[in-house]
Amino acid sequence: MAVNDMNELLKHELGDLLYAEKTILKGLKKMAREVKDPEVNARLVQHHAETEGQIQNLESAFVALGYKARAQKCPGILGLMEEHDEFKEEEEPSQQMLEAFDLGSGLRVEHYEIAAYNTAIAIATAIGESECARLLKENLAQEMEMERFLRTNAGKALRKLNTQLAEA
Ligand SMILES: [Fe+2]
Ligand SMILES: [Fe+2]
Repeated sequence: MAVNDMNELLKHELGDLLYAEKTILKGLKKMAREVKDPEVNARLVQHHAETEGQIQNLESAFVALGYKARAQKCPGILGLMEEHDEFKEEEEPSQQMLEAFDLGSGLRVEHYEIAAYNTAIAIATAIGESECARLLKENLAQEMEMERFLRTNAGKALRKLNTQLAEA
């Protein structure tokens, strides 16, 4: 279907985000199984629960615009997932290196989400769809918290892993 106005553009962005969040839900489950570090693992589990709420918010955002919620294939997020899976299959990382790699995979996903939510919020705000913008901002705040957690803990967790390797 041709996208001819801002409402349709926003609908496209919401569909892309809905697809991305549903994909991320599976990705977070996978990463939580891989990461044994208790603090990072707990945060991944928490973000998985938050993501379920984000999917509901996106569905409500569609309704606020007068559309039926519909996911639209998002090759960007599939590419990020593929990078993770390929590294695991082809490079055969040790458990510790997989955990170190996963921090970077998670950070990439959060940055992707932050960019997508900022875009959708800008469109919703521009056309005065305030309820839609409010719901999207709720999700964005959670993504920014997760991004901050992964970024600040990446250094700490990497140093810990490096010490463990040196002692092994
Ligand atoms: Fe998300
Ligand atoms: Fe996220």
